[in-house]
Amino acid sequence: MRKPKFQSPSGMHDILPEEQKYFQKIYDVVSNIADFYGFGKIDTPVLEETELFSKGIGIATDIVKKEMYSFRTEGGNYLSLRPEWTAPVVRAYIENGMQTLPKPVKLWYFGPCFRHERPQAGRYRQFWQFGFEVLGEKNAVVDAQIIQIFYNILENLKLKNLIVEINSIGDSQCRPYYKKLLSSYFRTREISLCSDCKRRLRENVLRILDCKEEKCQPIKAEAPQTLDHLCEECRSHFKEVLEFLDEIEIPYRLNPYLVRGLDYYTKTVFEIFPEAVGEEGGSQDALAGGGRYDKLIKLLGGKDAPACGAAAGVERIVSLIKNQNIEFLKAPKSHIFLAQLGNLAKRKSLKLLEDFRKARIRISESFGRDSLRAQLSRANRAGVKYALILGQKEALEGTIIIRDMASGRQTVVKLEKVVEEMKKKLKK
Ligand code: HAM
Repeated sequence: MRKPKFQSPSGMHDILPEEQKYFQKIYDVVSNIADFYGFGKIDTPVLEETELFSKGIGIATDIVKKEMYSFRTEGGNYLSLRPEWTAPVVRAYIENGMQTLPKPVKLWYFGPCFRHERPQAGRYRQFWQFGFEVLGEKNAVVDAQIIQIFYNILENLKLKNLIVEINSIGDSQCRPYYKKLLSSYFRTREISLCSDCKRRLRENVLRILDCKEEKCQPIKAEAPQTLDHLCEECRSHFKEVLEFLDEIEIPYRLNPYLVRGLDYYTKTVFEIFPEAVGEEGGSQDALAGGGRYDKLIKLLGGKDAPACGAAAGVERIVSLIKNQNIEFLKAPKSHIFLAQLGNLAKRKSLKLLEDFRKARIRISESFGRDSLRAQLSRANRAGVKYALILGQKEALEGTIIIRDMASGRQTVVKLEKVVEEMKKKLKK
């Protein structure tokens, strides 16, 4: 087949009607849980000042260095399509004076993000995220609750075998020392590192820990681990997070290599994976990721306040729902099909559909077809119980035929009575 002249940009997709039901289901589950836990919904512009991201996420991160869609406006401003929501949410929190609200401020969101990554399965250039942010609270219970919320959402979507991978990357007290240790460890082995890691050694040594290159694995395995070098405060905070998780029986695995790709994190970091895939060993993508970011609000110009949150990728969840053949998403079916013949019947049919809609009874039709036979065969294929037939004669007389599709029996009723009549029949 010849390629159409216009196609969607690489890595970006249409979300077609058959796909929408997954998005809708996820949205419903997320918004119900957000409601239950007292989160308020926030939407921010898709565009923000580029500097918000370079400052917030970190100038040396892959996201900022390579993946942002940035441009200069006619007015001379540098703007970027948001690659994530946390920096914009913090910007909105500061700008809208939410720092004076009772703490913590809890916000959630659901919308598209943009990253110019190499498109592959589970990795898109436009993808949807939902996320939860708790601003203004440092207690470890918040970290555990964020993890619980994401775990619950994924479980409510009937996803099985989920595992939380968790780590603590310390704070400004202990991380500088740990990074020094790491640097000197990797520097003596630089020659054996992949080229990306050689660069990371200069730019952000922590990122070497989540390198997936084969040749770096044995070197990583012997590297000093962050959990052995946390300061007292970070150690006890992390211990508490794990105790809370034990209490609510969320399965987790300590992953000393988990460092995350954004610079704003302090203390807890976590990701949620579908475990079965992970154990098969292939490259796997996280469904959700997040952690604590106690310095970001101040960094972006607000009053010093701790925070914690996470986000999940909607397309990845949809693809897992499909892979696991989860069946909660059958579209509601209509039991009635309206077939019509001739212009007068068509006109009356429009009105009749309205009456059914108001009575909240599902009914399908095929107005584009004129042959009665074609319409009835469509009704048959749709597996409806009843067909309503409005021919020219019926339209003139103000009647309509109800055909029982199983028995083929037909009765004639007055047009204005048909909604009531069908209500009764469907109740039986
Ligand atoms: P992130 O790990 O970069 O974190 O993204 C969160 C989730 O978005 C990932 O786990 C993944 O499911 C999905 N995702 C990321 N990139 C792509 C992509 N190219 N294609 C499809 N899905 C993708 C953040 O964005 C942080 N803002 C999370 C956070 C919130 N931390 C604290 N609060």
